[in-house]
Amino acid sequence: MEVKKNWIPLHWANAVNTLDGEVAWRSPSNIALVKYWGKYGRQLPSNPSISFTLKNAHTNMRIKYSSGNGAVTLYFEGERNEQFEQRIKRYIESINDIYPFLENVDLEIHSDNSFPHSAGIASSASAMSALALCLCSIEKKVFNTLGADEDFFYKASFLSRLASGSACRSVYPKLAIWGEHPEIEGTSNNVANPVGSRVDPIFHTFKNSILIASAKEKSVSSSAGHQLMEDNPFAEVRFSQARSNLKSLMEAMAKGDMAKFIEIVEEEALTLHALMMTSKPSYILMQANSLILIDKVRSFREETGLPICFTLDAGPNLHVLYPFHIAKEVEGFIENECRPYCENGLIIQDEVGDGAMAI
Ligand code: PMV
Repeated sequence: MEVKKNWIPLHWANAVNTLDGEVAWRSPSNIALVKYWGKYGRQLPSNPSISFTLKNAHTNMRIKYSSGNGAVTLYFEGERNEQFEQRIKRYIESINDIYPFLENVDLEIHSDNSFPHSAGIASSASAMSALALCLCSIEKKVFNTLGADEDFFYKASFLSRLASGSACRSVYPKLAIWGEHPEIEGTSNNVANPVGSRVDPIFHTFKNSILIASAKEKSVSSSAGHQLMEDNPFAEVRFSQARSNLKSLMEAMAKGDMAKFIEIVEEEALTLHALMMTSKPSYILMQANSLILIDKVRSFREETGLPICFTLDAGPNLHVLYPFHIAKEVEGFIENECRPYCENGLIIQDEVGDGAMAI
């Protein structure tokens, strides 16, 4: 185990309180500006990344725990979901070196997402960070540990990372960096670090309109995509580009340099998809409407001079990013020019949020 902050494996025998109770967390999704794409070892990133923590797209998770023999039952939006249940069982087994006590606990998990199933939005960052936060709350209650917030969120970020890489950034407000960068203070491959206080406040209230170009399930999962980076001929160049982009982006955000912010964010989005196109086998996740929407955003920016840009995660949907003070103009443009190119006219309005909270 990577022992951090004097962690020791927590056995049932060390419990100081009863193994019976309930915990609940709300945890948000996040959207990366510099993308994590490629990993090694135990969920360690091949390059550092940074994301905005979102507000409206989140998972609410409630877990009832009781002494037992490691059974996991999962209800997603009120219905038993065995596929998700298996994933959580495998995850819990994989952290047995950290939480051996979970062998003696039964978990009944109730998970709900704020965003529609049909939107084709990845929910693993919000769901897996909510799970990790709930497990930390169980640890805190049963063992009287993780008293300081800093320790609690450190461990929650660590456990989120083991569940789904980029989920580790979701526990923190505003903006978080995950992955070591020699020139950026306090960065680590093990956990994310909040960096909202290091940027111009204009970014604290940034808006994110998600244009659903297609709600279909992706043909290649993110885990398969990360794996394909192992043989991608551009991998090393990419990892160093990401380090350099992260450094430049932090400098631009500190100064509120919008032109530089836009240049880097769009370059990162298109590079991510270029890496997919140059994997073996190659694949394309953008759809025809993604390209039309990209063109619309760029033309609108050119015509109006307004600081609006797009990013993409590993899928066809456009995340349009813009400062709060131009929301009215941008939302008019989105409504009139972009909605017709969204599947079933679906757009999700989101913005930078304050991170996870106990509920
Ligand atoms: O954390 P994963 O394995 O779902 O991968 C996330 C990958 C991207 O969303 C494309 C980029 C990122 O940094 O979030």
